[in-house]
Amino acid sequence: ARDYWIAPSILSADFARLGEEVDTVLAAGADVIHFDVMDNHFVPNLTIGPMVCEALRKHGVTAPIDVHLMVEPVDRIVPDFAKAGASMITFHPEASTHIDRTLQLIQDHGCQAGLVFNPATPLHFLDYVMDKVDIILLMSVNPGFGGQSFIPATLDKIREVRKRIDVSGRPIRLEVDGGVKVDNIKEIARAGADMFVAGSAIFNQPNYQQVIADMRAELSD
Ligand code: DX5
Ligand code: ZN
Repeated sequence: ARDYWIAPSILSADFARLGEEVDTVLAAGADVIHFDVMDNHFVPNLTIGPMVCEALRKHGVTAPIDVHLMVEPVDRIVPDFAKAGASMITFHPEASTHIDRTLQLIQDHGCQAGLVFNPATPLHFLDYVMDKVDIILLMSVNPGFGGQSFIPATLDKIREVRKRIDVSGRPIRLEVDGGVKVDNIKEIARAGADMFVAGSAIFNQPNYQQVIADMRAELSD
């Protein structure tokens, strides 16, 4: 069996009690905190930046923080997030003019680097950087908002990326983001994903531990 990671997206958390929410979801069994950064330019919404990441570190969060950048331009915010305590930084290829340079910049700042693909973004952006990416994130909704439905065509894309990762022989994470729930996580894992972002499925109900346990049960058989 693969080593599966569950990454709650704090986009659906209560921002007025963010530190508590992150502590609770980690105590409930989350592996990674997914941190959605939106700029009202690359995507139609505005969320949180490096100051909030730093505040979580100061609050005592030691778990990996997976920063999903939905911003344009990308490069000038990378050092700020690295200093703020990001563990992984992923970005959309459409938002960077020099994709190889941005991947290198993230790694030079001590973080794992990844590319994010919108539902209709072709995979050719991976062609010359498979030796550099640590994470490939496939969006299964159009980015900007939590609570949307999983786009089924993503399953074929996950299978395609799984093949590319296996051919590369490198330990690249295959992360899926958008509409992931207890009732579809198994199918998404079977297609080849090993890292699951879930926002509304976890935070929009009272018992985080129960949902995460239910997700792990789906992943274990
Ligand atoms: C969407 C974000 C997601 C979002 C997922 O743009 O990248 O991380 O929070 O939310 P759910 O799990 O509710 O689809
Ligand atoms: Zn995200």
